[in-house]
Amino acid sequence: MPSPSEVPTDSRLVSTEVGLAVERLRSGGLVAIPTETVYGLAADAERAEAVARVFEVKARPTGHPLIVHVAGPDALDGWVVGLSDAARTLAETCWPGPLTMVLERGPRASHHVTGGRDTVGIRVPGHPVTLELLHRFGGGLAAPSANRFGRVSPTTARHVVHDLGTHLVAGRDLVLDGGPSEIGVESTIVDLTCDPPQVLRAGAISVDDIDRLLDLTTAAASGPSRASGMLTSHYAPSCRVVVVDRRDDAERLASQAVAAGQRVDVLDRSADPVAAARLLYADLRRADESALDVLVVVQPPAQGLGIAVRDRLSKAAAGSATNDPDRPSPIG
Ligand code: TXA
Ligand code: MG
Repeated sequence: MPSPSEVPTDSRLVSTEVGLAVERLRSGGLVAIPTETVYGLAADAERAEAVARVFEVKARPTGHPLIVHVAGPDALDGWVVGLSDAARTLAETCWPGPLTMVLERGPRASHHVTGGRDTVGIRVPGHPVTLELLHRFGGGLAAPSANRFGRVSPTTARHVVHDLGTHLVAGRDLVLDGGPSEIGVESTIVDLTCDPPQVLRAGAISVDDIDRLLDLTTAAASGPSRASGMLTSHYAPSCRVVVVDRRDDAERLASQAVAAGQRVDVLDRSADPVAAARLLYADLRRADESALDVLVVVQPPAQGLGIAVRDRLSKAAAGSATNDPDRPSPIG
């Protein structure tokens, strides 16, 4: 895989034209879509062959369900059944925005999208380009994050081309460039099919926000790996990631690593959780581009977006520490 700086901007693969993206989707092609959270790799959710290609291009195990993206709360017909008052409240308050609801699936959400489950994850993304695409396309778009399975999510069109460019076909597929993602971490996922509802993945909409809006106390996720982003290891760069709470611990570990002859850097955006989220995946990717052995990250406090950032960092650290037996030994 070429490094991002060597990736040619293939003018036939990358475009800002929504009309072209609609055409590609209607002909069964894949379109990488910008969203406020991360870029997704979209297919017409009602075309089984196109959805199968999403799994292939991502190298994602087929049992993992995809999120269906629709144009608005009024576009849920057929995708879900029996919208509860709680679901209606969240849809009206949080959409378009970084919230995915898991609901009972309707007939349009077939098993190739839901991974054989009777529930479907659904959201209305808060990005003007993709909202226009959804309105013009008319249907639902099944879209996981546009990265190879288990790796770092993309927040720019360039990231998508770097990760998936060799697996996409110019003239058939498209990367729709809508600029860098504003939020930078994936949507909050709340499962409304259980009582009380469970939060399956932390995101920009906090557990407190959801509890307040629904006037109840949601539960933490239970059951084996309810969402793939809940696997212990995910979002992993190639370099080792070590997470600490304090800057002085980071400096100490970095000095030890340097003394051991390792290439190391310290990343500290702990004072600004919003920037920490927005830049997290670009930061992890840059660590790999700089061929670091170790990235020591000072994590933000566990409040608001800081909770989502800490979640992704702990998974990045778990993935980077366990995947490659040949990497330099751990520090600290
Ligand atoms: O912000 C986001 O949610 C991005 C953008 C592109 O919308 N999408 C995203 O998709 O992060 P993905 O596939 O990388 O992560 C979706 C997560 C997976 O962990 C999947 O298991 C879970 O959502 N999920 C989807 N449908 C589900 C369902 N019916 N029940 C439980 N989990 C579900
Ligand atoms: Mg993902």
